[in-house]
Amino acid sequence: MDILGKHGKIERSATLLLILSLVVVLVGGLVEIMPLFWLKNTIENVKGMRPYTPLELAGRNIYIREGCYLCHSQMIRPFRDEVERYGHYSLAAESMYDHPFQWGSKRTGPDLARVGGRYSDEWHVRHLKSPRSVVPESNMPTFAFLARNELKFDDIADHLKTLRIVGVPYTDEMVRNAKADLVAQATGEDTDGLIKRYGKATWKSATEVKARDFDGNPAKITEMDALIAYLQMLGTLVDFSTFDPGNEENLR
Ligand code: HEC
Repeated sequence: MDILGKHGKIERSATLLLILSLVVVLVGGLVEIMPLFWLKNTIENVKGMRPYTPLELAGRNIYIREGCYLCHSQMIRPFRDEVERYGHYSLAAESMYDHPFQWGSKRTGPDLARVGGRYSDEWHVRHLKSPRSVVPESNMPTFAFLARNELKFDDIADHLKTLRIVGVPYTDEMVRNAKADLVAQATGEDTDGLIKRYGKATWKSATEVKARDFDGNPAKITEMDALIAYLQMLGTLVDFSTFDPGNEENLR
């Protein structure tokens, strides 16, 4: 019997077709997925990665609260058009402390995985207050109220503790100093402790914590401060001028 004849038999028996399809999918799945558990460069633990500072974390919470992820992805795929537009493709390690991750698949607006440092704080303030004043064709909603809302951060230490339960390596010291670190980063004052805990970098200034008044209003710490602190560090932790995924030197 020729091979097409045999195939006819499979196609005429729903049960057989179902079972054989399942076997094919299983084998395919195993071949695709299993190596990921052993390959070093998929379980990347890349130099420069650190947990979010309390202020960045508060900003991330606002990002999630406001549904920014509904229009913005945070994952640059390894295709030429994406890499040329957004920068180096995203590494798995870059979202290792994201719970939940913000990869997304909907791009009404551009990908934000590497938006950190691309614009000034002033640009972000203007853009969030009134997107069409900087990008006339924008259909992004206005988030002007973020600049008026004072940031509530009484419970920020609890957020760190909660993330610790799911594996983010916040130390007791980080939890104890969460509020002080948040204030230090949002004002740019007394930042020694903050920088000691979150890095003047183990290796390069790219990971230096950015501490300053982000929203241009030093009188109070607003939700705008937190959100911009978060946006300005997105995708900046790994130094891609030296990063080489095949080189173990880059892994910790
Ligand atoms: C309804 C969809 C929508 C929502 C919701 C939305 N955006 Fe946007 N966003 C856009 C569009 C469209 C653009 C491109 C035009 C522009 O720059 O305004 C954009 C652009 C941006 C840019 C500039 C990116 C770049 O590389 O030029 C940033 C930063 C940004 N959005 C942040 C946010 C944040 C933060 C939130 C949540 C507070 C948010 N967006 C919510 C649609 C949206």
